[in-house]
Amino acid sequence: MGQPRIVLGVGGGIAAYKACELLRRFTESGHAVRVVPTASALRFVGAATWSALSGQPVATEVWEDVHEVPHVRLGQEADLVVIAPATADVLARAAGGRADDLLTNVLLTARCPVVFAPAMHTEMWEHPATVENVATLRRRGALVIEPAEGRLTGADTGRGRLPDPAEIFAFCRRVVARGAGAGARDLAGRHVVVSAGGTREPLDPVRYLGNHSSGKQGYALAATAAARGARVTLVAANTALPDPAGVRVVPVGTAEELGAAVRAAAAGADAVVMAAAVADFRPAETSARKIKKRDGEDPAPIALVRNPDVLAGLAADRSPGRVVAGFAAETDDVLANGRAKLARKGCDLLVVNRVGGGLGFGSDENEAVILDADGGETPVPRGPKEDLADRVWDAVARRWAAA
Ligand code: PMT
Repeated sequence: MGQPRIVLGVGGGIAAYKACELLRRFTESGHAVRVVPTASALRFVGAATWSALSGQPVATEVWEDVHEVPHVRLGQEADLVVIAPATADVLARAAGGRADDLLTNVLLTARCPVVFAPAMHTEMWEHPATVENVATLRRRGALVIEPAEGRLTGADTGRGRLPDPAEIFAFCRRVVARGAGAGARDLAGRHVVVSAGGTREPLDPVRYLGNHSSGKQGYALAATAAARGARVTLVAANTALPDPAGVRVVPVGTAEELGAAVRAAAAGADAVVMAAAVADFRPAETSARKIKKRDGEDPAPIALVRNPDVLAGLAADRSPGRVVAGFAAETDDVLANGRAKLARKGCDLLVVNRVGGGLGFGSDENEAVILDADGGETPVPRGPKEDLADRVWDAVARRWAAA
């Protein structure tokens, strides 16, 4: 692909100023961007700013530069249209098929992927009219990113905040990379649940038993599923990563909390992929006070009890059509241990990865074999964790197709 052509639509909300950062990220990474603000967006950020940052003329109405037929050409030629912020009004006009300004004309002529990044007050986001408009746009194939939770325009907080521009950018890059062809949004209409990170089992208010999982592999699974059109719930245990755009994140701490959150999210889900490193054991007792060392005394041994196996439980209870996948972190006899674990857990897929030697925990790359309960084994060579994530979703999609 040459220089990808982006149309950045900007709705009239206070978050319009954050679209400047999004625009910068696109231009600095070699995308050609045309900004199409609505008339109300220009009350927040002026045309001069958009024009200077994009290096392109900026128009709002269809009556400007009519000889170039911009209302048709911009949409037809784009590789991606992204609207950030998408206000309740923009969503309503898009869902209604209106063509009352340049942006809505672009939306009607675009044949490329269209991403809406909504931002508005919680009440507006939750209003039945907005809920229906979002459902209509998604049904037609648009990617509507869930807004983030946090501080809104005034002193109030809630769901409705524009996701971090860096995360919207990362999401758009993945969408552009997948193109507009058939199959690019092959997970559309599916709800998938992913677990990520490492659980922590408290010994006392300051200490815990934990592991080295950073959450990167699970976040890569969540982000790639969202770019492929899925609705994604990510149950994240003790991670320090930004929420991927388009993904609902449920933070948890312990294995028991993770189990409860995954089971709740899994009700009605089409797939569950457990990439989290879940503690098999927890301290039999958690001290309410910090455990003190006493001079001349050996520390008391820590008694452990078994945690429930979340993956095995999900596999045993799965409803027809739901795919349940796990990961196995192994240091020795990787394949043999993986095959035995697949049989023991009873899941549909098990992704076996070696941990150590710079791979697995905390790394940006991974290497694995995807074991299928039907006997298939797909090696995935060393590469970015997103590559492995895509291969896992391919395997999940094959299971759905075979069901
Ligand atoms: O997070 P990163 O830094 O990117 O690292 C990625 C990773 C190495 C953590 C990841 O690729 C990985 O291997 N995750 C699984 C780690 C693990 O717990 O493996 P396990 O072999 O102990 O468990 C097997 C499976 O059972 C896992 O899907 C696990 O989520 C699940 N399990 C384990 C114990 C338990 N009580 N309940 C479970 O559901």
